[in-house]
Amino acid sequence: MQTKIFKISADTPDVLAIHECASIIKEGGLVAFPTETVYGLGASATDENAAKKIYAAKGRPSDNPLIIHVASPDDASIYAYTNELYEKLAKAFMPGPLTVILKKKDIVPFEVTGGLDTVAVRCPAHSIALSLIEAAGVAIAAPSANLSGSPSPTRGSHVISDLDGIIDAIIDGGECEIGLESTIVKIEDNKLILLRPGAITADALRCVCENVEISSAVTEALAENEKPISPGMKYRHYAPAVPLILLEGENDTVMKFLHNAQNAERCAILCYHEELYKLRAERIIDIGSESDLQAQAQRLFAALRRVDELDCDVVYAHLPPKDGIGLALYNRLIRAAAHTVIHVNSSNIKHH
Ligand code: TXA
Ligand code: MG
Repeated sequence: MQTKIFKISADTPDVLAIHECASIIKEGGLVAFPTETVYGLGASATDENAAKKIYAAKGRPSDNPLIIHVASPDDASIYAYTNELYEKLAKAFMPGPLTVILKKKDIVPFEVTGGLDTVAVRCPAHSIALSLIEAAGVAIAAPSANLSGSPSPTRGSHVISDLDGIIDAIIDGGECEIGLESTIVKIEDNKLILLRPGAITADALRCVCENVEISSAVTEALAENEKPISPGMKYRHYAPAVPLILLEGENDTVMKFLHNAQNAERCAILCYHEELYKLRAERIIDIGSESDLQAQAQRLFAALRRVDELDCDVVYAHLPPKDGIGLALYNRLIRAAAHTVIHVNSSNIKHH
């Protein structure tokens, strides 16, 4: 398939290109587009065949449901049963990087929800995404626009390398501002269950709803046979081709560990900006300043993609803190590392 590629600036969206892409969506085709979090692979949210095409293009298991994207928070009620808590969340955080799971209405086919009677709804804060949804006149179902298993795309070039020749069109709108996927919450009575951490933090959610429960799957591995609340939790994700190992410990001790590692093996390192000059300049990826978790979030997926281009046998990264947006970084890295963490101290440095 010949994929049409449109390069559009978010400041002055090209109306003709947006309309051409909206027509593709209305006719049941697939268009990848930028959002403030990561790129999405979009199709009409009311078209079951288009949803099937999404799963086929990504190689995604069909029980892993899609998020539907609306142009205005009010439009959620066309597709789902909204409630008071939804309204509060919408007022506080939408448009923005928050996805809310609600009971679905019949208009949303089960192909979109992976057979569930709930649907995930989000209103993205990105001018290209919003104009595309508006022009299509229908909500757009869109998972992240990567091949299943690889890191979510945060640049047009990532989407092109994964999906060129496989989908109808790609809108390249430059780099995504946030870089990690949206926060996902499920509303249960008057409680919010945090299923996937993102830029809207647990503390921010607590300003709207006192009762926020962080699902254990955010930080822990699922037990064997455990049924996840969110099907996406059970799939291997974001992982580079070589093993990723996370390091926890004092910065000095971790640095000694990394020096030894650089001498002993062909390793790549995701390091803090401040550490660049302390390491040998070989297979080193600058993840941003230690104190700037937002910058680290924005760069993480590009860094994980970069690892695959390096000739290495293993990759090391710091274990992020679990507070604020750190929890989102922690969640993505711990899954990419399949929960492999080394607690570095003076005794295991020597062993290395
Ligand atoms: O930022 C984002 O959310 C991006 C952009 C494109 O909007 N989208 C995204 O979609 O990350 P995706 O498909 O890669 O991740 C959606 C996650 C999956 O883990 C899925 O299991 C969960 O949302 N999900 C979707 N519908 C659900 C539902 N009804 N109940 C529980 N989890 C659901
Ligand atoms: Mg995804």
